[in-house]
Amino acid sequence: MRAQEFLQKTYGVSDAIVQWQSPRESQRGDASTSIALSLAKNIGEKPMVVAKSLAQELSKLPEVERAEVAGTGYVNVWLKPAALLRELSASRKAHVESVKANQRKKQNVVLDYSHPNIAKPLGVHHLLSTIVGQAITNIYRNAGYNAIAINHIGDWGTQFGKLAVAFRRWGTKPIEQYTLDELLGLYVKFHDEAEKDESLEEEARLAFRDLEQGQSDLRTFWETVVGITMRSMQRPYERLHVTFDLVQGESFYEDKMAPILEEGKAKKLFTIGKEGALIVEFPEETKLPPAIVLKADGSTIYFTRDLATARYRIDTWHPLEILYVVDVAQQQYFQQLFATLKLLEWDLPVMEHVIFGRMRFIDRQMSTRKGNILKLEEVLDEAVTRAKQVIADHRETIQTDDEAALAEMMGVGAVAYGILSQNRKMDMVFDWDKFLSFEGNSAPYLQYTHARARSVLRKGDANEKQQFPDDIEVLAETERLLLKTLLLFPSVLEDARETRMPHKLANYLFQLCQDFNAFYNREPILKAESDQRDFRLTLTREMADVLRTGAELLTLRLPDRM
Ligand code: ARG
Repeated sequence: MRAQEFLQKTYGVSDAIVQWQSPRESQRGDASTSIALSLAKNIGEKPMVVAKSLAQELSKLPEVERAEVAGTGYVNVWLKPAALLRELSASRKAHVESVKANQRKKQNVVLDYSHPNIAKPLGVHHLLSTIVGQAITNIYRNAGYNAIAINHIGDWGTQFGKLAVAFRRWGTKPIEQYTLDELLGLYVKFHDEAEKDESLEEEARLAFRDLEQGQSDLRTFWETVVGITMRSMQRPYERLHVTFDLVQGESFYEDKMAPILEEGKAKKLFTIGKEGALIVEFPEETKLPPAIVLKADGSTIYFTRDLATARYRIDTWHPLEILYVVDVAQQQYFQQLFATLKLLEWDLPVMEHVIFGRMRFIDRQMSTRKGNILKLEEVLDEAVTRAKQVIADHRETIQTDDEAALAEMMGVGAVAYGILSQNRKMDMVFDWDKFLSFEGNSAPYLQYTHARARSVLRKGDANEKQQFPDDIEVLAETERLLLKTLLLFPSVLEDARETRMPHKLANYLFQLCQDFNAFYNREPILKAESDQRDFRLTLTREMADVLRTGAELLTLRLPDRM
């Protein structure tokens, strides 16, 4: 503001908007502007002259430590420690206020994630959806939104017909005695046999039709299978710190589809296609192929249920947004879904298909498994086994009285964070060594840094309420950087939420840890004198608190000791 006034007064420019950047390089100060360069031409002055006079003016400000001209006319400003600290608390306050304002508005956001298909192998995309979805949900909640987390399980559809046929033919004991693995076995057997005997597919289709029509044996069979699958998911969800407000699977919409089919027909949007199915066609410019709404034999499909799902969610929660965290493979499907809703002319919230890319496995064993069948529990167990090894390898540095708990926290965290630290829109890489490394952008690195900070705080007898002393005159370079990184936390959270990109938060936490470790390695904390010691302990506590808050949003847990 001051810069703007000054330029107006001195050079008579009325439209000079001064933009400030916050560079990370310490030689560029806390704030940097190129206004002198862009103004110089207009006012017929040399950039250096404008920059010098501006720097001189700014250095008179009480909050400015020094202002310097750099390069061909940049002005870099260093703030006084007290001013930086004031900014930190102001940004905190603004953040708290915005969370409260959001809470008052009671804005609902529906998040649809994880959604495994019952009695079908769990695909790797379910693991990704589960973790990414939970992180986004946590970030929304933290920002004051009322997030409604829904597990839209695939508990309806032809696969139940297949399973019923397989059980009828090759079942060896009552269905309730089957484990999930054995159900998978039945399912796989069906597919193997169906390759040889085409009539099986037809039999399965009929079985599902009977189920839809309410045949009671099939109904009981179905309920049992759903129960077995859901119970087996409970443990892995708990371990991953994943929770849902509602499990409303596809079957939930069984009786909610008819009115929409009627509406679509009445509006002449749903028409009979060549093969007798009910279809919806899209405007030329969308370039979307027609979608089937109802099969020729009258059975509903995934798409039909998603139409009903959208209607139900809109009517029930009047949400601001509905987010579907689903594999990029379903991109066209969601385009068709959203296009259909538009054609129906419903009053729609923001609807977004939150995509994620493919996962590539570095581990040979994992990548050669047929059809990417990935058992969540197995992955987590493997991660914990590997974490135990990592702990053993770092015997001299790691101290813990509960090794099993630490290995669980580290292993599970490594998988979750390994995924969340990657840009979800790109193809991702599943790399055990990277996920469990102590040096890079990994869960163990964050966990170790946190434990290190807490240990300093314990030794320094720092209490939780300790505030920054306000008469700090100088800042070491690493202190200034860490402080500036802390300042960014609220805006990073907001950016991660707006873009639904958890990796932005992950990258920030990694940076925060690096900045803290640089500070920790350079500056004495416990051995510093009075005010400086208080300052450094408070800085350490602030860092540990931000790290914990941020990490927990990413479903990670951090130890106080290790
Ligand atoms: N169960 C589906 C699958 O595994 C994903 C469901 C996504 N949610 C939705 N409302 N369509 O591919």
